[in-house]
Amino acid sequence: MRKIISASILSADFACLQEQINACEKAGVDWIHVDVMDGHFVPNLTMGPFIVAACRRITNLPLDCHLMVEKPEQLVEAFVKAGSSILTIHPENNPTVVDTLKKIRDFGCTPGVAINPATPVLIVEPLLPLVDQVLVMTVNPGYSGQKFMPSVIQKIADVSSLIQKVNPAIRLEVDGGINPQTITSVLNAGADTFVSASAIFNDPVGIAVGVSKLRERLG
Ligand code: DX5
Ligand code: ZN
Repeated sequence: MRKIISASILSADFACLQEQINACEKAGVDWIHVDVMDGHFVPNLTMGPFIVAACRRITNLPLDCHLMVEKPEQLVEAFVKAGSSILTIHPENNPTVVDTLKKIRDFGCTPGVAINPATPVLIVEPLLPLVDQVLVMTVNPGYSGQKFMPSVIQKIADVSSLIQKVNPAIRLEVDGGINPQTITSVLNAGADTFVSASAIFNDPVGIAVGVSKLRERLG
């Protein structure tokens, strides 16, 4: 499967978001990752649909929206209308996850399910027929710039074998602490889609170098 780099704008400089997204595009990132946090599901508070709409005007790259919110079902329509390409939701604290995933697809958007480091693979299994991607968090969600949790590598391998059995077309995305030092371990465990914020936007030389350091490790 083609390897995807999804640049998380959580570490972008919002004073010049357009330049930063254009630089990502020029550097060859495949998707733009938008981290939506509501101050409840996670402590941090970040972006809403109007940021997605702004990104949609800046780039034609797919907008990979990661909803770390309570009651995501209430936001699906607004995010779809704003131009989201992928909507990934969490099953934790979310009793309506099945209906919400169906709703995302019914709206013509790509559905994904994301699991926190402490959430077992068991939770994902019954949801696989409803999704096009599974996101395995490699940090506890909430902030960029956190340290990668190597304890999640085995879970990535387990999700990968499950995907191979059920539907090999499903993407396996990893998110949190992905950098040139950690990307090989998740690649080897079966990940094919790599989210990165700080390793791209905080690279000391610049976005293009940050992206190429990740890309060259994907072979
Ligand atoms: C964490 C977010 C991530 C985060 C990644 O809650 O879901 O997408 O922005 O940031 P880095 O790559 O810096 O760990
Ligand atoms: Zn994310």
